[in-house]
Amino acid sequence: MKKATLLLTVFALASLTGCSKTDNYAPAENATGEDIFYANCTKCHKQEAAGNVMVLNSAMANKEAIIQKVNKGSMSMPAFPNIKGEPAQRLAEFILANSKTK
Ligand code: HEC
Repeated sequence: MKKATLLLTVFALASLTGCSKTDNYAPAENATGEDIFYANCTKCHKQEAAGNVMVLNSAMANKEAIIQKVNKGSMSMPAFPNIKGEPAQRLAEFILANSKTK
């Protein structure tokens, strides 16, 4: 019983803090940026303030940086290598149009 609890805790922590993982989600060719964002990103990126989907660092506030981040991920964010091309452009445009820069 104790062991099971411990295992569960370790597993939960691992999935919360997880080192760079890959998410194989691939958007439909006609998906809007909004569709993609709400399907994949809001589980971690909750709306930070009314009307803002994210608060971006100024170095992040351009399409190239956002797409790079989404494709490569980080220690705490999974990589989404299949969000690319036109849908990736639309996702980045949606984020830029609806975010603040700090
Ligand atoms: C498992 C949680 C998780 C998911 C899912 C996730 N992110 Fe993130 N994201 C993070 C964390 C944590 C950070 C901050 C740490 C970092 O920059 O690596 C971050 C940082 C970012 C940044 C950089 C912000 C800045 O100003 O530095 C962008 C842009 C971003 N995420 C976009 C997205 C998009 C777009 C999606 C959906 C395709 C997404 N994220 C999905 C956890 C997540």
